[in-house]
Amino acid sequence: MTSRAQKTTRTPDGRLIVVSNRLPFVFRRDGDGRWQSEPSSGGLVTALLPVLRYRGGTWIGWTGSAGTAPDLESEIATAGKETGYELRAVPLAADEVHNFYEGCSNEIIWPLFHDMQQMCNFLPEYWRTYREVNHKYARVAHDASGPGDFVWVHDYHLMGVAAELRRLGTKARIGFFLHIPFPSPDIFLKLPWRRETIDALLKFDLVGFQTMRDRRNFVQCVRALVPGVEFEGRGQVLQAAIGEHSLRIGNFPISIDFNAFVRQAAAADVAAHAKELHRLLPNRKLILGIDRLDYTKGIPVRLRAFQNLLERYPDLRERVSLIQVVVPSREDIDRYRELKTEIEQLVGHINGSFVRPGGWVPVWYVYGGLSRLELLAYYRAADIALITPLKDGMNLVAKEYCVCSIEEDCVLILSEFAGAAAQLARGALLVNPYDIEGVADTIHRACHMDRRERQARMRRMRRSIRENDVFQWVDSFLRAAITKDLSAFPQPEHYVAEEAPDTSLAL
Ligand code: G6P
Repeated sequence: MTSRAQKTTRTPDGRLIVVSNRLPFVFRRDGDGRWQSEPSSGGLVTALLPVLRYRGGTWIGWTGSAGTAPDLESEIATAGKETGYELRAVPLAADEVHNFYEGCSNEIIWPLFHDMQQMCNFLPEYWRTYREVNHKYARVAHDASGPGDFVWVHDYHLMGVAAELRRLGTKARIGFFLHIPFPSPDIFLKLPWRRETIDALLKFDLVGFQTMRDRRNFVQCVRALVPGVEFEGRGQVLQAAIGEHSLRIGNFPISIDFNAFVRQAAAADVAAHAKELHRLLPNRKLILGIDRLDYTKGIPVRLRAFQNLLERYPDLRERVSLIQVVVPSREDIDRYRELKTEIEQLVGHINGSFVRPGGWVPVWYVYGGLSRLELLAYYRAADIALITPLKDGMNLVAKEYCVCSIEEDCVLILSEFAGAAAQLARGALLVNPYDIEGVADTIHRACHMDRRERQARMRRMRRSIRENDVFQWVDSFLRAAITKDLSAFPQPEHYVAEEAPDTSLAL
């Protein structure tokens, strides 16, 4: 850990102020009504921890519940002390949660940026609250930061933070990373507040995207909406100038903590759990899907592809089971509740059509959160991972699956519309998730792939993830904010190979 933290010495000198919609902790009341906190398990938290400890810093975000609770404040302070950095909560009232989080963030920006404009609910009051809540986050960040610090804002909920920080006269440098895709102009221009959004993003000092495609889409939207922006550079990081202000724009594919996953996946209890899964579901290939309950993940169409597989390839009946894990998410939004019903009806239909009395169940459906042990055991037990989002910023499940496959003897089937496809194209079987028969044929191919090919493909993907882990991701983002010479940022080799070169400057 220390060595990775030391790798970040070329980052900005001051403290790091991280701003994200949620704090990196989950706060819950226990049976006696007292608050208990638990750190979130995500890679982002793990990756930023060494920098926050080394530089000193603050994490600003929402607790996840509406309103304020005075007794929660002391729990937040205690949790902060234990982590080695300060936590500052941004309280959100119930109507702010409704209009900003559920409304603008998750009924406008989320679907639009995932190319699902028909799902958008473009209500002006959503946007008004989005703007106000972004100002709220900005005020907390302004109070927490000083000259020389680096404020790093995360994700689509908070695109307006830099604009407000500039108005407040903040001296710190400000970066932004978008974890979800950035849509093409055809889609983005539907946003009623498109110009304000682009202007707000141009107020950052560094704007990072997951892939070259996202970056190219952003550059094209800037060109379509804001006259007179000059772009320079050809590598991973471009320089743009707008009036007096200049900013950098790059692509930084997020990753995971490779070594931690390998270590944990190799543990004896994980192996025992994985073995138990094979005992419960014997003599068959296990195909795994793990997703948050979200319409961008393509779960219904994936289930239809699995049904199609069983219809067209009877040799695979009783020889395969699909384990589909669905993790509850955004349960107060109607679309998410409707999706749950749709998935459960489809699972019931497939199982009802193919089930054999006393034996084989085609779809093993799990609705609920997984413990770390269960997650790792599913990864280790699965012969094939079926990760077919209709659109996804990166999809870290794909990377986690590869890394946990320590025998390197399994197959990843991956949607070409996941950001991870740009990096894993040489090892995964890429599919168009909308193509039901194409996905079914690819599952069939994966089931019959020989061991040598499985291992060669998996080895290639694991090497790429090891060389580009989450620590390297943090390091490259922070370096991009301060490095003078942008020629130090050529496009990583695998990106140049997998995607068409970025010719945005010529567009
Ligand atoms: C996506 C977003 C994250 C978000 C996560 C969970 O991965 O990019 O910013 O935190 O979904 O969604 P939730 O709405 O529960 O925070």
